[in-house]
Amino acid sequence: MHEAMQAFNEYNVKLANLYQEIVFGKLHMQTELQVTADMVAAELRRIIPIDRLRKAGSFFTGDVLAGRAAGSVSDHGLILDPACGAGSLLTAFTKKLPIETTLADTLREWGRILYGCDLFPEFVEATKLRIILEAISRGVQLNGDSLDELKDLLYGIKQGDGLGLVPPETCTHVLMNPPFRLVPAPANCQWAKGKLNEAALFVEYYLQRIPENCTLIAILPEVLRCGTRYKKWRTWLEVNITAEVMLNGQFDTKTDVDVFVFAASRLSTQKPSMNRIDWKTQIDEPTDLTVGSLFDVRVGSVVPYRDEIAGDEYPYACPSNLPRWRIVSEFENRCGYAGRKINPPFVAIRRTSSPSDRERAAATIVTGKEAVAVENHLIVACPRKDGLRACKRLLKLLRSAETNRFLNQRMRCRHLTVGAVKEINWQEEIHAGTD
Ligand SMILES: C[S@@+](CC[C@H](N)C(=O)[O-])C[C@H]1O[C@@H](n2cnc3c(N)ncnc32)[C@H](O)[C@@H]1O
Repeated sequence: MHEAMQAFNEYNVKLANLYQEIVFGKLHMQTELQVTADMVAAELRRIIPIDRLRKAGSFFTGDVLAGRAAGSVSDHGLILDPACGAGSLLTAFTKKLPIETTLADTLREWGRILYGCDLFPEFVEATKLRIILEAISRGVQLNGDSLDELKDLLYGIKQGDGLGLVPPETCTHVLMNPPFRLVPAPANCQWAKGKLNEAALFVEYYLQRIPENCTLIAILPEVLRCGTRYKKWRTWLEVNITAEVMLNGQFDTKTDVDVFVFAASRLSTQKPSMNRIDWKTQIDEPTDLTVGSLFDVRVGSVVPYRDEIAGDEYPYACPSNLPRWRIVSEFENRCGYAGRKINPPFVAIRRTSSPSDRERAAATIVTGKEAVAVENHLIVACPRKDGLRACKRLLKLLRSAETNRFLNQRMRCRHLTVGAVKEINWQEEIHAGTD
């Protein structure tokens, strides 16, 4: 993994050259020195293959979102970004800091305030170079200092593991966009088993360690805000912290993940209490009869690109071969698949949608005699009784205005969850005339 990240040094050389060109008067510092967070995020994608970035959980924040997160910091002392990448959040934050007359004096002051780390030294180097260039773009006087001396002034920004760092006593803000990759839950994790989103671990880690009066500001994936899997995590937060949730929408135009900005402070350790956080999901109370009480609901198990799906043993269902709101009994695609297959009839529901889609839970009924291998972009609802009749009723229910309203209130993120589908009320009046 580290080898792939080393390629980022190519960009660091460019940044270092910019400094030299400014020192030697070849570039005009304010008009020609434009290194925006969007540009750095684009360079990262250009230099490092996307599968490596996914594995490392490395996606750099763009200007608008970085400005939004950094803009939430007020009355600051020391700021820590424990997964700083190429410094988009720290650099955005420096826009709030005053400058001194010279570059070195400015960095000396900023160096007392800015702390951060990243697993990859290439990103740490980029962070320091960007902060230096940012100070220059503010119009400070250059005295020909060597880059190494200037970088040393930012001594709080180093290579390291953000999940092993003790935040300094004087830290007033932890500002982060942690990795969103799936990792195994630690053995002592109280709220989940199996795999979980690393961002949840970062939040838990820091909320357990930050000094009182320190605020954590984090860019987090929507799944933490509304996924069933993170319900216990949210409850843990409600007991231990007070927080504000700011919805944001998509991370950036290239990254199809919805995010929110989370600003949290610890409650006094002596007095844990249930302090409900407004997760901005006003949910209708479910009645006794829900989709979950009548159907077994789960995510399809075939993971394309990971699972071997060659061969022709089973029909293969994926969003592209399931026309919406229809009944399908034959599949062109077939695959050999050793994992769990689903016996028809069942309803296959697309997991990805967005609040602007007219129908949030687009679905198809699958019938036939053969077990079907179902892709993991689909949620499958298998009726416990009444077979095809129950499936038809569910299709009608999923298409109804009530269900759309419920899902839009229940979750703003694009991915439907098993929990949300299970909670849909089974409204008898909707079923009149279905059979
Ligand atoms: C989503 S990126 C965000 C980077 C940066 N904060 C920004 O907003 O552009 C997450 C960063 O965390 C780093 N990272 C992943 N695991 C880490 C860990 N355990 N400790 C420190 N950094 C880590 C990755 O290398 C990546 O640069």
